Amino acid sequence: NPLSVLQNLDDFEIEAQKVLPEKSWIYYSSATDTLSSHTNNRVAFSKVSLRPRVLRNVARISLQKTIMGFRSSLPVFIAPAALAKLGHPDGELCLTRGAARYNIPHCPSTYSSISHAELAKCLQSEQEAVGNKRGTLFFQLYAPINKREGALKHIADAKRLNFTALVVTVDSAVIGKREEDERYKARLDHDSGIVFQANSSPDPDPNLDRPVPRGAHSSTLEWDDLIWIREAWGKDRPVVLKGIATVEDVVEAAKRRVDGVYLSNHGGRQLDYVPSSLHTLLEIRLFHPELFDKLDIYVDGGFRRGTDVIKALCLGAKAVGLGRPFMYSLTGYGTGGVCRAIEILSDEIQTSMRLMGVTNVDQLDMSYVNTALLELE
Ligand code: FNR
Repeated sequence: NPLSVLQNLDDFEIEAQKVLPEKSWIYYSSATDTLSSHTNNRVAFSKVSLRPRVLRNVARISLQKTIMGFRSSLPVFIAPAALAKLGHPDGELCLTRGAARYNIPHCPSTYSSISHAELAKCLQSEQEAVGNKRGTLFFQLYAPINKREGALKHIADAKRLNFTALVVTVDSAVIGKREEDERYKARLDHDSGIVFQANSSPDPDPNLDRPVPRGAHSSTLEWDDLIWIREAWGKDRPVVLKGIATVEDVVEAAKRRVDGVYLSNHGGRQLDYVPSSLHTLLEIRLFHPELFDKLDIYVDGGFRRGTDVIKALCLGAKAVGLGRPFMYSLTGYGTGGVCRAIEILSDEIQTSMRLMGVTNVDQLDMSYVNTALLELE
């Protein structure tokens, strides 16, 4: 199998960079400003070490975890990332198929390049093929500019198509300043002869009431909007807020009727200098540990290894999302690449758990990690 030369998720990134058109590579890989949020996501893992226990029977283990109400085979889900067609003509279909085959959730983006209806159909035919309800779809919601009307239409679609959880992204009042993308656009403009004109420069008064630059999608969304969002979505399926980075906002979320929060700095693509989700987990543990019992806490950002996933679970996360690695895995390889990526992660989690003396992901807790270095931040 040619895919077995790919030994870890970083290998997919290296291969993807070789074959992706420049524009697509930049869109997938870019991050904000100084890249501090992005880089720090990886650095945080190196600040947590594992505390393995030995001489325990680890022949049989279970990796099952309930993620936003769905019993998943792994404590892992495919995070929302827009425009998978930039990597492969089948786009998000590869992710839905891979997720179904390994029985994990896929959360496509509001800006999926394949329609949500087609993804729902794809999941259904995957399930029919095995005669089993494997896999599920979550709906990621960006409240659009015409907030209520647009969001309600998305929510109605999601319900009709049987998406099983609503993930409301709350860190994207505007799009972050991703300089690689801006440079690329500027180079294109330059090459196509569009020249800078002095009178087209933006108004220097920042207080002017003019449209928000860099694309506003959810700039008018507020806490109170969660009331009508919850009402429209219904009570029987979870609502989770994605893009929370402080313990204060987890407290706010707990006061509302949401089922979970999803700690994330958007893979370092929104605000710069935002802590890693590992760090925010630690903050919650330090200041409001009772929140772990009130809400389900999900995380993402820089997860590439089985041990990364294990560290977050030890700190109290229910499950972990991965964004870029799945986009890179479908690039060039389609569904096979996505399956290989899930297999690698699953194998790494299992091997590390056995070496830690743990037989069930629910046993992972603070006693298996040393966070002293991360606490210094
Ligand atoms: C994203 N992310 C994202 N999040 C979201 O809520 N809606 C979206 O449409 C997108 N789109 C998107 C596109 C691309 C190309 C990337 C890389 C990311 C953020 C995503 O859900 C997740 O938070 C990060 O990708 C997690 O970091 P890693 O796993 O990429 O390091």
